[in-house]
Amino acid sequence: CVRVLTGIKPSGTPHLGNYVGAIRPTVRASRQAGVDSYLFLADYHALISTHDPARVQRSTLEIAATWIACGLDPQRVTFYRQSDIPEIPELTWLLACVCGKGLLNRAHAYKAAVDKNLADGRDADDGITMGLFMYPVLMAADILMFNAHRVPVGRDQIQHIEMARDLAASFNHLYGEHFTLPEAVIDEQVATLPGLDGRKMSKSYDNVIPLFAPREQLRRLIMGIVTDSRAPGEPKETEGSALFQIYQAFATADETAALARDFAAGIAWAEAKERLFERIDREIAPMRATYDELMAHPERVEAYLRAGAAKARAQASPFMARLRHAVGLRPLD
Ligand code: TYM
Repeated sequence: CVRVLTGIKPSGTPHLGNYVGAIRPTVRASRQAGVDSYLFLADYHALISTHDPARVQRSTLEIAATWIACGLDPQRVTFYRQSDIPEIPELTWLLACVCGKGLLNRAHAYKAAVDKNLADGRDADDGITMGLFMYPVLMAADILMFNAHRVPVGRDQIQHIEMARDLAASFNHLYGEHFTLPEAVIDEQVATLPGLDGRKMSKSYDNVIPLFAPREQLRRLIMGIVTDSRAPGEPKETEGSALFQIYQAFATADETAALARDFAAGIAWAEAKERLFERIDREIAPMRATYDELMAHPERVEAYLRAGAAKARAQASPFMARLRHAVGLRPLD
């Protein structure tokens, strides 16, 4: 049985990048025979970037409803909220104690924050919390707690999974074979979905298309995707076109090839955008209805999460007992 695990940070409204990079591939994988899936809301991770309790709660509900609306079957998979599993921060500490500080100094997100400080003439660590610095260790605990083999993610998360492997190997070396070494699974087609401005779609760039934006808002947003200034009738480049890349993430190979031909033949941008809108809406519309229904009944979502937490803890708790024993700590009563 292959164990597949992935999480999403509830720090904002889920967007098309989260959907194609993580949600869609994971939901598809979770329906295959011989796959045991763990899907969770990384709310401890959300606290690193958000100090707004209402936002964390709202986003947790939105992302949980999104997973279910996108076809996850909570009976079949283990679907939980990270903060419902106290064994995860406990494991984070054990891993922190085998984690070289240098490893974390090299983490992309931390380095980017330091570089930005230096570029702005501030002290290197100004405003950087231990939460941000420890981010990869908490994420390693998420993955190693359930001994996941595969972790489907967008390209931005690869380094974190490599770090989880490093920490698993260090721990195993010191205490015996307790952890499986996880592997990132990246769908190359959609590894980085561009946003409205052509950069990676990301909450922090404010360029996202919310997954369940109402139909008219979705159309408006899509009409706002950056394009060059080529007029109708002029051939368009597919290379480097955000519009084309987003289309490719939703369409079949044949549909994509047809759009490439129309680009060469000089399709008007407005028409290409209309085609993209229709293609996305065709896939999303049925899920949007389920999502709206779930958002109107938060207690249903909560019931799934509680049941999922019980299922997850039934594994995490005995595994943590084994790890406590391995490092020389007393078993909990
Ligand atoms: P987060 O919440 O930033 O993003 C969730 C998932 O969406 C993917 N993603 C994208 N994929 C393609 N194109 C994009 N533009 C795009 N934007 C986001 C991300 O790669 C990610 O897979 N650290 C994680 C959450 C996490 C986690 C874990 C993941 C915590 N613990 C353990 C896997 C395993 C994060 O911040 O994802």
